[in-house]
Amino acid sequence: MSLAVFLSDLDALACEATAAFASAGDPAALEAARVEFLGAKSGRLKAVQKGLGKVDQADKPAAGKRFNEVKQAIESVHQQAVARLAAAVGPKKSSRAFDPTTPGVHPRLGRLHPITQTIDELKEIMGRLGFTAVEGPEVEDPWHNFDALNIPPEHPARDPLENFYLEMESAGTPAVERGMKERPLTTLLLRSQTSTVQIRTMEKMQPPVRIISCGRVYRPDTADATHYPMFHQIEGLLIDRGVTMADLKSTLRLFARSAFDPDVHIRFRPSFFPFTEPSVEVDMSWQGGWMEMGGAGMVDPNVLKAVGYDPEEYSGFAFGLGIERICARRHQIADIRELYKNDVRFLRQF
Ligand code: DAH
Repeated sequence: MSLAVFLSDLDALACEATAAFASAGDPAALEAARVEFLGAKSGRLKAVQKGLGKVDQADKPAAGKRFNEVKQAIESVHQQAVARLAAAVGPKKSSRAFDPTTPGVHPRLGRLHPITQTIDELKEIMGRLGFTAVEGPEVEDPWHNFDALNIPPEHPARDPLENFYLEMESAGTPAVERGMKERPLTTLLLRSQTSTVQIRTMEKMQPPVRIISCGRVYRPDTADATHYPMFHQIEGLLIDRGVTMADLKSTLRLFARSAFDPDVHIRFRPSFFPFTEPSVEVDMSWQGGWMEMGGAGMVDPNVLKAVGYDPEEYSGFAFGLGIERICARRHQIADIRELYKNDVRFLRQF
């Protein structure tokens, strides 16, 4: 055999072995390739080595030297493949010396939940329109959640299936001992709407009133893409002399333009709420259609009377919008349940 033929066989084998080791995706494939090329008995390198005996005597030293170089090269490529697969299994706890030139590891900063961010922005927008943000309790009595809002005793909104009532008697401390002597022993509930804060605010102050209140409300709804047993509302209330529906509409339009886009449209659909007359459902234009954002209307005279305001002198508007909806619309979130899974991979996007 001539030296040229031997060397070309050797080089071809080196190429094939290098490719096989580099492309092995797991330890089993790598071991199969090792046996094929480097196997001690019937490996292909062994077969090429046998050709060494047939090389012309004068060329033997050169052929032998080249064979050893190629063999070492193939073995080292194999070692690299072993290391590569080991590294892929998991980062090795290495005791490498500290390298001051490597870029630092940036600590991940926490951030506010998208609902909190939305609330902050809504407060900011309404603040610019002159509305002060106020808060109310999440555990309410029926007076603030229903009676003062003109919701009659037999109204379905009071149904135990629609509300989270709290069993005061069985909860340990009877209501009487909790400083509620003046009122009859009553069952409290988790508020089902932020309209409660309208009442609490008007009980405390005289007109003009210009407030918003953002917070959690609770209803025993089955969770789905647009419902959750706990969600957030933004409530708005404006009471003054001579307030009309036109004020309500222009306020909500300004609000929507700031919260969404400058050419968003507002649509009112006639509706009914016990605490407003007339009442409307508020839609905002979106993706060629309409999206329902919540309810609104002119505060019912009975509500004004319940808090001691004179309906002949004052009028006002109120609205209540779903904050999850606003947040989902701003960020194109298809399923509001994502907001409450606390999956940082989701939350990190906002
Ligand atoms: N409280 C209503 C609800 O939860 C929403 C609402 C409607 C609030 C009309 C208002 C209003 O202030 O005027 O469905």
